[in-house]
Amino acid sequence: KYWNISKMTKREQQESIIEASQLLHQGEIVAFPTETVYGLGANATNEQAVQKIFQAKGRPQDNPLIVHVADALQMESLVRYWPAYVDKLLVAYTPGPITFVLPSNDVCSPAVTAGLDTVGVRIPSHPVAHQLLSACQLPIAAPSANISGRPSPTSARHVWHDLSDKIAGILDGGATGVGLESTVIDCTQDIPVILRPGGITKEQIEKVAGAVMVDPGLAVKNENEQPKSPGMKYRHYSPEVPLWIVSGASENLQSMIYRLQMEGKRVGVMGKDGTVERLQVEAIIKLGNTMEQVAANLYGALRTFKLGEVDIILCESFPEQGIGQAVMNRLTKAASRIISL
Ligand code: TXA
Ligand code: MG
Repeated sequence: KYWNISKMTKREQQESIIEASQLLHQGEIVAFPTETVYGLGANATNEQAVQKIFQAKGRPQDNPLIVHVADALQMESLVRYWPAYVDKLLVAYTPGPITFVLPSNDVCSPAVTAGLDTVGVRIPSHPVAHQLLSACQLPIAAPSANISGRPSPTSARHVWHDLSDKIAGILDGGATGVGLESTVIDCTQDIPVILRPGGITKEQIEKVAGAVMVDPGLAVKNENEQPKSPGMKYRHYSPEVPLWIVSGASENLQSMIYRLQMEGKRVGVMGKDGTVERLQVEAIIKLGNTMEQVAANLYGALRTFKLGEVDIILCESFPEQGIGQAVMNRLTKAASRIISL
C-alpha cells in the first residue's frame, strides 16, 4: 500500500495514518518519513513483527533497533531510569534527531535490543511520524528503511526501490529534512557518550549537558592511499561504484582526475558546488553550498551514481565540525579509500 501524504487533503491524510496504524497493530511492517531518513516500522512489543524488519532488510540480528515514541512519557514506559542530563536534552532537542540509549525495562521484544540490557529510544519531530506514533500508541521499532548496507533512504522512492515487495505499506511524506540519521548517545553513565554522530551535533549536546564523550571507535583514520581494512563490518551506506574521499589541496583534484581518466576510468565527483562545478569529469553531483545541504543531499547522491556509467566516485573531504562530523562519519563508512593530495 502506497500513501502519497503530500498530495492528500487533511482528511485523507488522517485516514491513511489510521490505516497504517492498523497495519502496525496487525503485526505488519510499514515505512514512514522522519526528519532524518525514512524508517521501517514495526510494533516493538511484537517479536514476530520485529523479525519481519530483520528479514526485509537483511539486517544482522546482533544490530539493535531504535524505538520511536510520541513523547517523553511514552519513553519513560520503556526504560528503568535516566540521568538528569537526559531531562535537559529532552527539553532542548526533542522532538528531534537524537536517540537515547537507556537501561531497558524489557517491555520491547528481545529482538529489538539484540539481547542488550539497554534500549535506544527516540522522539521524531516529522509531522507524519508524530501523527503515526500518536495514532497507534505503540512503541515503534524502526531502523532506516533500506536494504542493509545501502545508503539510507531520504525519499519514498528510495524505500520503494529497496523494499516495495517486502513491506505492507509506505507513507510518502516527501524528502526528509536532515538527511542523515539521528545522533545516538549512550545515557547509561554519568557523562553522555556519542555512539553515532547525527542530526544533533556534539556542540549542541555539550551546550546543554556539559561534558560529552565520543566513542573512540568513531575516529576517522587517514589511510593515505592505502585501501581500508577489509573488515567489511565497517562498510555501510555503500554506493554501487567505489567511492574515494579526497582531502587536501583542491587545486590538485583536476590533475588526479586526469590521471584516472588516462587509466581509462570514467570519473564522477561530488562535493560542495564551488569545489566541483568547474571540474572536467564524466559526472558531477553538487551537494549544495552549506554543510546542512551536503548532509541532506549525501545519501541521494550516493544512490545516483550507477555501475556502468562511472567507474569511480571522488568526494571532497569536509571539516569535522557541527553536522560535518556526521557527514564525514557516513562518508568514511561508504568509502573504500581515503586519499590526501
Ligand atoms: O534517524 C534515525 O535514527 C533513523 C530513523 C528511521 O529514525 N533510524 C536509524 O536506525 O538510523 P538504524 O537501525 O539504521 O540505526 C540504529 C543505530 C545502530 O547503529 C544501532 O547499533 C544503534 O542505533 N543502537 C540501537 N539500539 C542500541 C543500543 N541499545 N545500544 C547501542 N546502540 C544501539
Ligand atoms: Mg541504518
